[in-house]
Amino acid sequence: RMQVQRVVLNSRPGNNGAPVPENFRLEDTTLAADLSDGEVLVRTLYLSVDPYMRCRMNEDTGADYLTPWQLSKCLDGGGVGVVESSHCSSYAVGDVVTSFNWPWQTHAVMKGSVLQKVNPQLVDGHLSYFLGAVGMTGLTALLGVRERGHVTKGANHTMVVSGAAGACGSIAGQIGKMDGCVRVVGICGSDEKCRALVEDLDFSAAINYRQEDVPARLKECCPDGVDVYFDNVGGVTSDTVISQMNSGSHVILCGQISQYNKDVPYPPPLTVETQEVLQRKNITRERFVVLNHMSKADAALCELSQCVKSGQIKVLETVVNGIGNMGEAFCSMMKGGNIGKQVIKISE
Ligand SMILES: NC(=O)c1ccc[n+]([C@@H]2O[C@H](COP(=O)([O-])OP(=O)(O)OC[C@H]3O[C@@H](n4cnc5c(N)ncnc54)[C@H](OP(=O)(O)O)[C@@H]3O)[C@@H](O)[C@H]2O)c1
Repeated sequence: RMQVQRVVLNSRPGNNGAPVPENFRLEDTTLAADLSDGEVLVRTLYLSVDPYMRCRMNEDTGADYLTPWQLSKCLDGGGVGVVESSHCSSYAVGDVVTSFNWPWQTHAVMKGSVLQKVNPQLVDGHLSYFLGAVGMTGLTALLGVRERGHVTKGANHTMVVSGAAGACGSIAGQIGKMDGCVRVVGICGSDEKCRALVEDLDFSAAINYRQEDVPARLKECCPDGVDVYFDNVGGVTSDTVISQMNSGSHVILCGQISQYNKDVPYPPPLTVETQEVLQRKNITRERFVVLNHMSKADAALCELSQCVKSGQIKVLETVVNGIGNMGEAFCSMMKGGNIGKQVIKISE
């Protein structure tokens, strides 16, 4: 038997409420160390916290592809770790593996069938990148832009990204530049984030939506209007961006985090004014869900790996230590405490 720690759901956030660290509880438990056929024992290295988890905290997630987390049960999400013993022919001791359903636990017994083996060389040994730039959030950015953005080299496109200093947004803007946008403008929640976007990631400009006059600054930063909008946030910010979009332009509907603490279905309804703008200007705004494009994942991950290694894509991360800080890290990310991908380091 092995002593492990895990995080369970202690309570659900109140109606229309922001999550709080008290919604999570750390527990000591034991693992039976003997493995059945097809099982592996893994040691957790890094865990991911992501906005969609807010929906899993509700009894009804509001999305058909998301199951609710259960009270007092171990939570799960994206994770990366290393195989410590194996009764599954596909995995050997020392293999680095990932899963979308990794338990929030320091060690875990998992079925080989829910794991993917990954090559540490793809990330130059920086294994947390498998949860971010060379994982789900990188894929979301790359495939979102390619499948919905209609970015065309030589067309002088201007891209706007909201949630721009976050995991998906920071990569999406860099892909927009790489694919030929002449101007990429980020919208985010602090001056420090604005500086990182412009100085470190080469965004053309950045707007702090908490401090600045967003409509006026957008006009200034996007003199030729907006051709592509990578939308992570929804709400008032998105209404403003959409009102400045060109005819025949495209919204990449990636997420709507400004509405996730509210009891509304996804995607949340638009205002009548914004619906009218979309129609009048013939702007596309088709829902994008990365999980529906996984046939393109392998090629996309290869491309992301190469771009990260070459430095063409720069990676920002916010790393917190210790399984006891999972709940706090999640709540912090939901309030904008992160720059780049929020990950939690569980062990060396
Ligand atoms: N479609 C898909 O398949 C898919 C896959 C992955 C993620 N997503 C979506 O992509 C979006 C970003 O996810 P991520 O994992 O990259 O998270 P993230 O952007 O790294 O973190 C969330 C960020 O959202 C911002 N935020 C929080 N409340 C906000 C509000 N009321 N208004 C504006 N911004 C707010 C905060 O930054 P500020 O400081 O700027 O406020 C925070 O840092 C989310 O909407 C998520 O649901 C979609």
